[in-house]
Amino acid sequence: QAAQPEIYKGLAGVPVDYTAISKVDPASNSLLYRGYPVQDLAGAVTFEEVAYLLWHGELPDDEQLAEFEQFERAHRALDHVVKKVIDELPLTAHPMDVIRTAASVIAARDPEVADDSADAELRKAKRLFAAFPAVVAYDQRRRRGLELVEPRDDLGYSANFLFMTFDEAPELEVVDAFDVSMILYAEHSFNASTFTARVITSTLSDLGSAVVGAIGALKGPLHGGANEAVMHTFAEIGTAEAVGPWLDAALAEKRKIMGFGHRVYKHGDSRVPTMKLALDQLVAHYDRPDVLDLYDALANEFIARKGIYPNLDYPSGPAYNLIGFDTDQFTPIFVASRVVGWTAHIMEQRASNALIRPLSVYDGVERREVPAREPV
Ligand code: SDX
Repeated sequence: QAAQPEIYKGLAGVPVDYTAISKVDPASNSLLYRGYPVQDLAGAVTFEEVAYLLWHGELPDDEQLAEFEQFERAHRALDHVVKKVIDELPLTAHPMDVIRTAASVIAARDPEVADDSADAELRKAKRLFAAFPAVVAYDQRRRRGLELVEPRDDLGYSANFLFMTFDEAPELEVVDAFDVSMILYAEHSFNASTFTARVITSTLSDLGSAVVGAIGALKGPLHGGANEAVMHTFAEIGTAEAVGPWLDAALAEKRKIMGFGHRVYKHGDSRVPTMKLALDQLVAHYDRPDVLDLYDALANEFIARKGIYPNLDYPSGPAYNLIGFDTDQFTPIFVASRVVGWTAHIMEQRASNALIRPLSVYDGVERREVPAREPV
């Protein structure tokens, strides 16, 4: 019996390729975007500047930023065909299915769909980046019986995202907190959805297919779907006093507590302190200190019992809830941010490609011959 080769289930701990886009370092509990600590970027530059940095490798100068902002403004209105398709999707369709479908239509309608040159790929990435806020905003509004709100060119990316969703000029503090969340969600090396995008790209399939596949992967509650699931957990528990008994039952059932744990970070997610500051800012702005009662009770109790820490989805859920987004729009918001990381990795994969095709170890039955079929 030959020695069984080692299986790396879930590819846990397996380095598969190099990347220059971001460094996730559990040892120092840090995250670098093109070499910059993410918490330094979150307080100093906008999500547009971070997107430019992730794609181009450098922060934009004034002229480059102005040109990029102009490009984003030119592509932020909801495409009329995308609107027609969304209008045909029943309200029973999850918003992640809506944005996955919208992404497919946007990509198929991209004027440069047949051009896979590096320059065209970058423009396609930027058009998806510009188009997603209108999809999330319109899908939330139509579910409330509200009309489409056209974008405002005098607002930046995050302010316009909130304006199209709530049809009112957003307050600066809210815009800042939302923009921080978009910076923190933008990129995280070879997470499941990004790796999905790289696998699809490795066959030399197109950028649109890779983004649609990535959206499919992000939807799962073990990944991006957790920020929505955190709110369901809070609703289930109800009050801070109920946390102990609830956790007793949940852990007895071997349930995964949404918003906690991480495949790479094992002593806390490097992004949580920055996102918690943004959540605290929103709690003060809306005068909702009660939000932190249950938040702190569950986190303190779970950390005490299991030594497992919150990940970025834990503070993001309550933050988006305070701003007024529907719970099932939280992961589509994650899509609108992570499309930057996905497309940066798609372009990096193309630049030094190798088909991604791992091995499997057969543990099925061995058979000698096919039984002869008795003549009828
Ligand atoms: C994201 O990869 C990325 O970078 C992802 C992401 C990004 O930016 O792209 O950071 C975004 O996806 C964050 C994670 C969001 N998911 C959740 O919050 C869902 C809940 N989390 C767990 O499902 C889990 O922590 C994972 C999936 C995130 C990580 O799981 P692993 O690395 O596969 O570890 P595991 O499930 O094998 O857990 C190890 C042990 C197990 O206990 P034992 O079976 O060994 O006794 O820890 C336990 C697990 O049961 N555990 C949990 C837990 N997380 C780990 N138990 C209860 N609740 C949890 N949340």
